Amino acid sequence: MHLTKQDRLFVLTGAGISAESGLATFRGSGGLWNGYRVEEVATPEAWAADPALVWHFYSQRRHNASAAQPNAAHLALAQIERQLGDRFYLCTQNVDDLHERAGSQRIHHMHGNLFQSRCTQCNQPFPDTDVYETAAALPRCSNCGAPVRPHIVWFGEIPLDMDTIYDKLNQATVLLVVGTSGSVYPAAGLVHIANQKRTHTIYIGPEEPLNHQAFDEILLGPASEVLPSLF
Ligand code: OAD
Repeated sequence: MHLTKQDRLFVLTGAGISAESGLATFRGSGGLWNGYRVEEVATPEAWAADPALVWHFYSQRRHNASAAQPNAAHLALAQIERQLGDRFYLCTQNVDDLHERAGSQRIHHMHGNLFQSRCTQCNQPFPDTDVYETAAALPRCSNCGAPVRPHIVWFGEIPLDMDTIYDKLNQATVLLVVGTSGSVYPAAGLVHIANQKRTHTIYIGPEEPLNHQAFDEILLGPASEVLPSLF
């Protein structure tokens, strides 16, 4: 595909782009972690019922993401950004930091950031790479003493900074979606918004997403193989 100097690229990524770095997707693993459904450990209700279980889940994900390396698909997006500059915007549903470690800069984590935590009272996110594996180790705010939670958007919570996402999407001429099942909204609805503006839409992944009918082009294959030769 050829991009002109007028084109602006909006990229949406999901768990599939990190799959080849060894991080499990949500639906691919049957949505299960240690026998729990993801909904049982990634909701405000789970946090209220068992914060130690929730922190155990995110501690393991911190551990796994730290051990993973960016793959060719992450690197390809960083390379495209270097060419497009401000005409590039990356919105990811992923909470890992593999895009950043590949060199991406214009990036927004709509579902939060695995390596940030925030006080449940002060609500201010801060960098945090620690793991909290036991109930005794649960973190508390150094200012007010309230419990500290992962800076993650859980089911039933509103994704971060949707206004900027819609604004960037409105400016885009091409929407490229990579490695997401198209099952979680509002991310899965971005392609429909793009369609209203006749923005060209492309999906990359080994299988069709649930919202496949909304795309102009579907490029079937692993992101690490399809993305590097796309532009
Ligand atoms: P899913 O697990 O739902 O979907 C992963 C997608 O990646 C699937 O469509 C796979 O076909 C695709 N895939 C697998 N291997 C791939 C590869 N090598 N290259 C490209 N694609 C590949 O993950 P998401 O759609 O990201 O939300 O899930 C969306 C949200 O649901 C997550 O952000 C999370 C989850 O609940 C929250 O935590 C709020």
